[in-house]
Amino acid sequence: MLTTKPRGTNDILPSKIEKWHFIEQTIQELCALYLYQEIRTPIFEHTELFLRGVGKTTDIVDKEMYTFLDKGERSLSLRPEGTAAVVRAYIENKMQANPQPTKLYYLGPMFRYSRPAAGRYRQFHQFGVEVFGSQEPAMDADVIAFCMNIFKKLGLKNLALHINSVGCEKCRPVHKEKLISYLEKNFAELCTTCQERFATNPLRIFDCKNEHCQELIENAPTITQCLCEECDNHLQQVEKYLRAIGLEYILDEHLVRGLDYYTKTAFEIIVEGIGAGSSIGGGGRYDRLVEECGGTDTPGIGFAIGLERVILALEEQNISIPSKKTSKVFVINMGDEQAEIAFLLLAKLRAAGIVADKDFLARSFKNQMKYANKHEFTYVIIIGETEIETGNVPIKNMITGTQTIVAIIDVVEYLTRLEGE
Ligand code: HAM
Repeated sequence: MLTTKPRGTNDILPSKIEKWHFIEQTIQELCALYLYQEIRTPIFEHTELFLRGVGKTTDIVDKEMYTFLDKGERSLSLRPEGTAAVVRAYIENKMQANPQPTKLYYLGPMFRYSRPAAGRYRQFHQFGVEVFGSQEPAMDADVIAFCMNIFKKLGLKNLALHINSVGCEKCRPVHKEKLISYLEKNFAELCTTCQERFATNPLRIFDCKNEHCQELIENAPTITQCLCEECDNHLQQVEKYLRAIGLEYILDEHLVRGLDYYTKTAFEIIVEGIGAGSSIGGGGRYDRLVEECGGTDTPGIGFAIGLERVILALEEQNISIPSKKTSKVFVINMGDEQAEIAFLLLAKLRAAGIVADKDFLARSFKNQMKYANKHEFTYVIIIGETEIETGNVPIKNMITGTQTIVAIIDVVEYLTRLEGE
C-alpha cells in the first residue's frame, strides 16, 4: 500500500517527461498564436458547481466524482473537468466586462472515479480552451480548427473529426418526445443504465456501449433530424466554414457527448489505438451555461484534449519528439583539495549558463569517467594533482575523443566560446 500509487493514477517519470514538455510547449506556442490566455483555477470546487454546471444525471457527476466534506462540513469535489470552473471564474472575476470574445486556456489534472483501463485513468490531464461572448458559427469553426491544428502540430495522423448539433432548449424537447415514444416499445430490452437514462436523459442512450442498446438506437430519431431552424442554420454555417478551410469531418448524428451543458455544436476527435476511450478530445458550444451558473446570458464554446491519450497516440503512431540536445560538462576530480576546486568550477560553469555536474559519491577516476560516458556528457574536465600544480586542465571532448589543455581560469570562457560556435 505504502509503495503503490492509488488505482488509476500515474507517476510521470523523468524518462517520459520530455514528451510532456514537448506537448505542453507546442500547445502554449499555439495558444500564443491564436491569442488564448492561460487561466488556473482550483483543483477542487464547491460540489454544487458541478451538479449545476455539468449536470446531476451525467455519469461524470453522478458516478465518477471525488466528493468530500471538508472540516467545515462544506461539500467539495475534485474537478472532473475544466469548463464549469472556468465559467465560475469568468463570472466571479467579472470577465464579461473584458473585450469579447474572452479566450482562455488551461492545462492540468482532472479526476474521475471511472474503471481504470488503458487510456482511462482516475487522475488524468487535460488541455482545454473556453471562449466566451461569441455565438457566430465562424467561432465554432475557428475553435474546432484550433483543436485540429494542435494535433497536426504534434504530428498525429489518422484523426477523425466527428461533429453534430445537440440542439437547444427549443428543439431538444421535440426530439426527446419522439425518442421516448420510439424507445418505449423496447424499454424492457434496454440495459439497466439506459433504463435509468430513459427517465432522466434519454439522449444519452446514443452514447451507450452495450451492443443491444446500439442496435435498438440504430434507427431512432436523432436530434439532428429535429433541429429548429436556428440550430439547423447554425450547423450548416459551421460546416460551411469547415469546408472553406478544407477541414475534413464526419457529420455524426449519433454524437451526443457525456456532459449536459452543450447546445448546438458538439464535436469529438477519434483516433485508433489509444485504448479504452478512442476519443482524444472533444467539446462544443454551451450557450446557456454562464447564465445557469449565475452569470449574465453569455454564449460559450470550448474543447478539451486528454494529454495521456495524446501520448498514447504518439507512441502508437511511432512519432518521436524532436530531442533537445544541449552539451553538458562533467568535472572529474581526485582528492579533497581537487574536489573543492571542482566544486568552485562547477558553480562558475553554471553561473555562465553551461549545463554541468560533478561527482558527489567519491567515485574513483575510472568510475567517474564511466559515469560521464554513460550519461552522455559532451565534455569532461579532469582536475588532478598535476592540474593544480600547473594551473592547466585537460578538457576532453567525449564525442570526438580529442583533448585540449586549457588554463583553469580560462575554462568557462573556452567552453562558452565552444557553445557559441
Ligand atoms: P470530455 O469529453 O469529458 O470533455 O473530456 C475531454 C477529453 O479528456 C477526452 O476526449 C479524453 O481525451 C480525456 N479524458 C476524459 N476522461 C478521461 C479519463 N478518465 N482518462 C483519460 N483521459 C480522459 C470535457 O471534459 C469538456 N470539459 C470539454 C469541453 C471544454 N467542452 C467545452 N469546453
